[in-house]
Amino acid sequence: MTTEIEIVRTVADLRARVAAWRALDETVAMVPTMGAIHEGHMSLVRKAKTLADRVVASIFVNPLQFGPSEDFEAYPRGEERDAELLAEAGAELLYAPNAREMYPDGFATTVHVSGLTEGLCGASRPDHFDGVATVVAKLLLQCGPDIAIFGEKDYQQLLIIKRLVQDLNIPVEIVGGAIVRESDGLALSSRNAYLSDAERAIAPLLRAAIHQAAQQIAGGGSAKAALESARASLEAAGFRVDYLEALDPQTLAPLPRSFSSARVLVAAFLGETRLIDNVPVPPPA
Ligand code: PAF
Repeated sequence: MTTEIEIVRTVADLRARVAAWRALDETVAMVPTMGAIHEGHMSLVRKAKTLADRVVASIFVNPLQFGPSEDFEAYPRGEERDAELLAEAGAELLYAPNAREMYPDGFATTVHVSGLTEGLCGASRPDHFDGVATVVAKLLLQCGPDIAIFGEKDYQQLLIIKRLVQDLNIPVEIVGGAIVRESDGLALSSRNAYLSDAERAIAPLLRAAIHQAAQQIAGGGSAKAALESARASLEAAGFRVDYLEALDPQTLAPLPRSFSSARVLVAAFLGETRLIDNVPVPPPA
């Protein structure tokens, strides 16, 4: 049996639906996505459901956040199945605008968050975070939710979005959702579908390597040595490492000599597929 979800495609219809809930004093959470819905997105919707009366999910494959040689055209699309999964997880409304609704003729504004966007994915994907910040600002202003939920797998993105809403006084609470993993540790991602069988067999090593580095750092080992060893094991397995760093979990600044918390973040290619992951460094026992 399929669960029903209402689909709206215009800002006007989205606002009318949210206004009707507001008139009943109901709170609203938003879960923005680019579709290709998997258990990771569904866990965000389930979390949203525990935090608000109503959940709006959005699907928009945002052209602004893809580089010219990236996978915008190939990005997996399948609205019917996505809508079913979002409904099953508890979303009441799906906002699925087309590109013209989001970026009408004459659209000329870019939102740029400085600082946090400069390293990690920002260094290897120029303009990516401007595209993310622009579309997320628009989605939040179009919907006006009380809460919006983003996955921690895109950890740098989550911090950028928190900065964005604080700096632009967008009245919404940004909440992170825990990474959902396959039983072998691979973080769920729409891009896992690009992996060949051989690459899929190697892919869990990404998490294993950063987990081990995080444990070594927590145990008092040097971060430099832990990261070098993680990089060597990833390269030996066939990954091409884009970045592998242990950074301050709030500012993404390099770690000082003495620190109380840290996050290990990685991006690495397996063939043509770029995977990202991150883990916290556990506090010393
Ligand atoms: O994480 C994503 O799926 C996208 O970057 C987001 C936040 C929906 C913006 O397009």
